Amino acid sequence: MNIPSSKWHLAIEKRRSRRHFDPNLTLAPETLAALDKICSQFAPFPHARSRFVTQSAESIFKGAIGSYAKVKNAPAFIAFVGNMDDPFVQEQVGYTGEGIILEATALGLNTCWVAGFFRPEIVASLIEVRNRERVLAVTPVGYAQQSESWEEKLMTGFGRSHNRLPLSKLVRGLPREKWADWVNVSLEAARLAPSAVNRQPWAFDVQDDGITVFVRTMGPEFNVSKRLDCGIAMLHLEVAAVHSGCNGEWEFLASPQVAKFKIRS
Ligand SMILES: Cc1cc2nc3c(=O)[nH]c(=O)nc-3n(C[C@H](O)[C@H](O)[C@H](O)COP(=O)(O)O)c2cc1C
Repeated sequence: MNIPSSKWHLAIEKRRSRRHFDPNLTLAPETLAALDKICSQFAPFPHARSRFVTQSAESIFKGAIGSYAKVKNAPAFIAFVGNMDDPFVQEQVGYTGEGIILEATALGLNTCWVAGFFRPEIVASLIEVRNRERVLAVTPVGYAQQSESWEEKLMTGFGRSHNRLPLSKLVRGLPREKWADWVNVSLEAARLAPSAVNRQPWAFDVQDDGITVFVRTMGPEFNVSKRLDCGIAMLHLEVAAVHSGCNGEWEFLASPQVAKFKIRS
């Protein structure tokens, strides 16, 4: 499937993590069908897939520790699954999952990546998880309560969790005055990507023929791979590049590099 770049580029600006859903707003049959369709159609890598589950997400967050992942009243969820035999499974699941999340956003729905604080064994009892596969993350899907509850505001640090680092702290390589037009737009989109605890572990090396994404921060991963966050940023980068008329291919790279987006000449 080709990336619907205009629609997803708009969704990048619009998306915010939401955790408390409106129990009175159910998903219409055409919305259910659209979510199911995007999960089966947007599967750019053989070892990363998404499964839409039309079952209350309550049970998969039940018993999760702390308030960070307190998801309430979500009518459905999507599981992001990867085959652990693939050395690049984390970035592939991040990239694939974010495509699904942007499509859900474009459909007017709300989501929240949850990778640390859910119960994978419950998810595995609801979907088929094959040998060597693992549920790496999930997102609740539904319509969020119109305004953020006090509890939700506390969780997001009154909006601070949506703040992002400036490009000046994230980019090396070619000086800005030598950047082609698509580069700035693509880096701005990558910068807006969500990441676990908003740690923004990525950085970007700009070259004549493309951009390399690499892991900027060392230190503990807290059970969620930084390469998964980087996969999410890769999808944002490519959506904006394609939207600016620049197509390319990803080449996966060994750590601490993640992947290079090579422009097609
Ligand atoms: C891989 C990943 C894992 C996440 N895990 C959780 C989680 O376990 N619980 C939670 O409440 N939020 C989780 N989040 C949401 C982040 O906290 C949120 O994306 C970040 O603070 C940026 O805010 P924004 O999504 O509103 O832009 C996760 C996000 C990502 C990308």
